[in-house]
Formats: sequence, C-alpha cells, structure tokens
Amino acid sequence: MNAGRILIVFGTSYGQTAKIARRIGAVLTDLGFDVTVVDAAQPHAVPSLESFDGIVVGASIIARGHQKSVAQFIHANMGVLNRVPSAFFSVSASAGSKDPAGRVAAERVRDEFLASTWWRPHLRESIAGAINYTRYNALLRWYMKRASRKAGGSTDTSRDHEYTDWAQVERFAADMAGIVEPFAVSGLSVPRLG
Ligand SMILES: Cc1cc2nc3c(=O)[nH]c(=O)nc-3n(C[C@H](O)[C@H](O)[C@H](O)COP(=O)(O)O)c2cc1C
Repeated sequence: MNAGRILIVFGTSYGQTAKIARRIGAVLTDLGFDVTVVDAAQPHAVPSLESFDGIVVGASIIARGHQKSVAQFIHANMGVLNRVPSAFFSVSASAGSKDPAGRVAAERVRDEFLASTWWRPHLRESIAGAINYTRYNALLRWYMKRASRKAGGSTDTSRDHEYTDWAQVERFAADMAGIVEPFAVSGLSVPRLG
C-alpha cells in the first residue's frame, strides 16, 4: 500500500545527519510510504516538491549554526513547505548533553534557525549526534576533545562515539507518518503549532 510520498532533505558535515535521515526514511518506508532521501548540498538531485505529501528536513549544528545548503533549500521552497505536512530535525552534540542547559541550548539554536525563516513545520526535534574523532584532523580532534570533556562526552579520540537515541528517531518518523497519511488520503490540511 502507498500511504503517500515523503521527501527527506538533509544537510550534513560529518555524516551523522545523513545516517539519521536514512533511518527516518527506512521507518517511513516500512510504514508504506514512498520515500526519497536527498542531500541538500546536491540541489540538482532534489526533485520537484509538488508531488510530495510530506517533507522532512534535517541539519546538524556546526559552530552554533546549521548548514547553509539547508537554509537555502528552505528559503527556495517556503511556499510548499508551509502547505504540506512538514518536520524539521536538528542534530547536535548538545542535544545529548547530560546537562539540561546543554539540551535547552540545542533547542534554542534549532528554534532560532527556524525563526530566521518563514517556515513553520508541524514537528521539530532536537536529536543527539555523534563525535566522529576519526574523521577530524588533529586540530579539530583536540578542539572536540576539549568541548566533549566540558559536555561530559567521551574523550577517547581513538574511535567515534555515537550518542543518537534511535528510539527517539523512530518515534519522530512515526509521528511524521501520523500527520502525513490523513493529508495524503484526504488532502485535508493539518493545523500548525507555533
Ligand atoms: C567543527 C564542529 C563544530 C561543532 N559545533 C557544535 C555546536 O556548536 N553545538 C553543538 O551542539 N554541537 C556541535 N558539534 C557537534 C555536531 O553537531 C555533531 O558532531 C553532529 O553529529 C554532526 O552531525 P553531522 O555529522 O551530520 O554533521 C560540532 C562538531 C564539529 C565537528
């Protein structure tokens, strides 16, 4: 059964947001949706948005901001994004912080990013990412080790550390399915919050 078509567009600097986007895609595919996952950094690969019943956008926080390619995608497609069921997820180290203030800070960066656009997604999520020491150069490894120590994360630079809560990711995907399916079946719009 085809429950509707969903586009997932992601921005990533070190791969974790791509991995999360693909997991969201896998959950939605299992739920009967026809899913397309694309990297915002390859705009020529982004298909026409008009044929989708729902759109999920994800980006990671790098130096307190999200990827420019994702901001550009949102600005270029504001009309469609505000018309169909939509969701945004923000991936960061602080989202997985043991300190509640760190988690609040991650939500603030996410919300300020959205507020800088006219897009009001139905769902917004803050998801813990990964510290991929093996992908960083020596200077960045040193810097991230310091940042990680402060945030209570691992300082073992000999390997990568994944903090993503996959149950949270799967819940988020299922919540998106819940708002897209009635829209895809009836064309009825879904109220937006915030
Ligand atoms: C250079 C650099 C800067 C980062 N800046 C932040 C930041 O400002 N706030 C934060 O919470 N996490 C920060 N992080 C952690 C990333 O958000 C985390 O590693 C995330 O999983 C990256 O996702 P990606 O692999 O999809 O790019 C930073 C990571 C790197 C490597």
